[in-house]
Amino acid sequence: MNRPYTLIAELTYRCPLACGYCSNPVDYGGRTPLDTAAWRRIFREAEELGIVQLNLTGGEPLLRDDLAPLITEARRVDLYVNLITSGIPLDRNRVARLRDAGLDAVQLSWQSTDPDECNELAGMAVYDRKLAAAQWIVESGLLLTLNVVLHRRNLHRVNEMISLAETLGAHRLELANVQYAGWALVNRLALLPTREQLDRARAAAEAARSRLGGRMDILFVTPDWYADVPRPCMDGWGRRFIVVAPDGAVLPCHAAQTIPGLPLDYATSRSLTDIWEHSELFNLFRGEEWMPSPCRTCERRAIDYGGCRCQAFHLTGDLAATDPACRWSPAHSLVQQARLDADRLASEPLIQPRLLKNVS
Ligand code: SF4
Ligand code: FES
Repeated sequence: MNRPYTLIAELTYRCPLACGYCSNPVDYGGRTPLDTAAWRRIFREAEELGIVQLNLTGGEPLLRDDLAPLITEARRVDLYVNLITSGIPLDRNRVARLRDAGLDAVQLSWQSTDPDECNELAGMAVYDRKLAAAQWIVESGLLLTLNVVLHRRNLHRVNEMISLAETLGAHRLELANVQYAGWALVNRLALLPTREQLDRARAAAEAARSRLGGRMDILFVTPDWYADVPRPCMDGWGRRFIVVAPDGAVLPCHAAQTIPGLPLDYATSRSLTDIWEHSELFNLFRGEEWMPSPCRTCERRAIDYGGCRCQAFHLTGDLAATDPACRWSPAHSLVQQARLDADRLASEPLIQPRLLKNVS
């Protein structure tokens, strides 16, 4: 059995922003969040399990008052600590405190290079605050990655995004197309780009990558709905990642909470090692026994592991189905139809996840 490499700690699902592609569950609420002591214990258990990297995320992790002490504990047990944030709410002193607590790197989300569009996509005035946050992060000496979620509203701005990242002094730019789970699936018709948009954006990213010659990393993640074979989502179910949700549910994938009826285990009642090795949930899709045809005999089965389980469930109702993003899936016509719709239909308005304001 593989050892996990990364712990994704979803410290809270609360968030001041309301992005229409949020991957948080659409109906989460009312559950008690883990306290500081529980998270500290989870970090120690992660180190015992051999985990190397900790991603602190949410929702918005900056909404937790105990973020600095949590980082201190993570560093004490030798985890590499990466903060994934919208940059709101933040100020220069807090950046310095988080760095002094042991933070290694920050991934700052960015909605658009156009201030009005950025604010509209985020559901509040964030653009100027993000500019300030990026400046404080770089001047504090922390490594800055700019994370841009791409979709049909902002794909034409890839060159502007690259210029912005260079100007801000980012060491890495992640241009990741929306993954259709959570709110993004609700908003599919507003977000799915056309093939032409996608090809132009990818070419712009490739040109910049050779121009910059390694001075700034640029990652461009193609949406698997246009790739014809799926991505190895989460690098395979229960292979490299452990996600802990705000209430302590331990998951192989951040979107697994969107699948009803899964046998959940909680970090409050079992150790991470016990859950990783023995829980029913983590073992559901390990190995190849569970695979349906055509995955079972496909030469890519050790590359993509049959694709994304959450996508398979949300599109077909069957958690063990071949991912419909795959051209050999019996349900691939669903994805083909979505691509045709993206080319044919006018963009729909985005529904923003206001519901998430009141959750833990
Ligand atoms: Fe991957 Fe299964 Fe498609 Fe083969 S058939 S490419 S293993 S999803
Ligand atoms: Fe859950 Fe892909 S999003 S397995």
